[in-house]
Amino acid sequence: MSVETRTKRITAPEIASRKGATPIVALTAYTAPMAAMVDAHADVILVGDSLGMVIHGLSSTVGVTMEMMILHGQAVVRGSRRALVVIDMPFGSYEESPEQAFRNAARLMAETGAGAVKLEGGSRMAPTIRFLAERGIPVMGHVGLLPQATHTLGGFKTQGRDTESWPRHMQDAVDVAEAGAFAIVVEGVVEPLAIRMTEAVAVPTIGIGASARCDGQILVLDDMLGLSARVPRFVRTFADLGAQADRAIADYAAAVRERSFPDEANVYR
Ligand code: KIV
Repeated sequence: MSVETRTKRITAPEIASRKGATPIVALTAYTAPMAAMVDAHADVILVGDSLGMVIHGLSSTVGVTMEMMILHGQAVVRGSRRALVVIDMPFGSYEESPEQAFRNAARLMAETGAGAVKLEGGSRMAPTIRFLAERGIPVMGHVGLLPQATHTLGGFKTQGRDTESWPRHMQDAVDVAEAGAFAIVVEGVVEPLAIRMTEAVAVPTIGIGASARCDGQILVLDDMLGLSARVPRFVRTFADLGAQADRAIADYAAAVRERSFPDEANVYR
């Protein structure tokens, strides 16, 4: 069914079945109007915890809370009808134990209506992913550069520049897939490693700063629309909305100051 006519939501198993097929189109969204725009074109909408930095001005995703994720998750589900909505589990909501992860994942899904959760981590998180998947929670994995681990990684650093680390990264992807993740975000790894990971796992990889040979791609919406002040090298800006917004706001300010706004068309007689 075409992107335009389909009304039933895409499911996690449908995304899983896209391994090696047409690339999966994924983007983030945090609000209902943006979700509606993305929904018309994307297969997956991620309510990413990047919202902490993009929307709330935090310096990392570490300070994002369950309440923030739920509020934005509800808006995104309301604004979309077709794409699979995946919601990020925030830092501190799943690492302690599989039981803690289940409680919070179930809450995120029940209170927002999202179709899946995403959590960061490789082999270390495999038992948790298995625990959730066996209890009815579709899980998207996230390996490579892990933004929530910025404090231990010492910043947002491309992973796999040293080939000695490749076996560890490969094992992460394999363990996450074998634990039952329906897809895996591969973030910020050197391209040959991303290709090897994609070849090694039976579920789709969704790349960000990885490789065009992943099974799909994801970007932060504000970055690709040109709304972010600075973007990493792996982002292509498909529009320059930041500059357009700046011009529009400057024009509005000038019109107010010279009393040319509102004019005849904007007032009630
Ligand atoms: O939080 C987020 O937006 C993400 C994507 C960058 C994959 O995890």
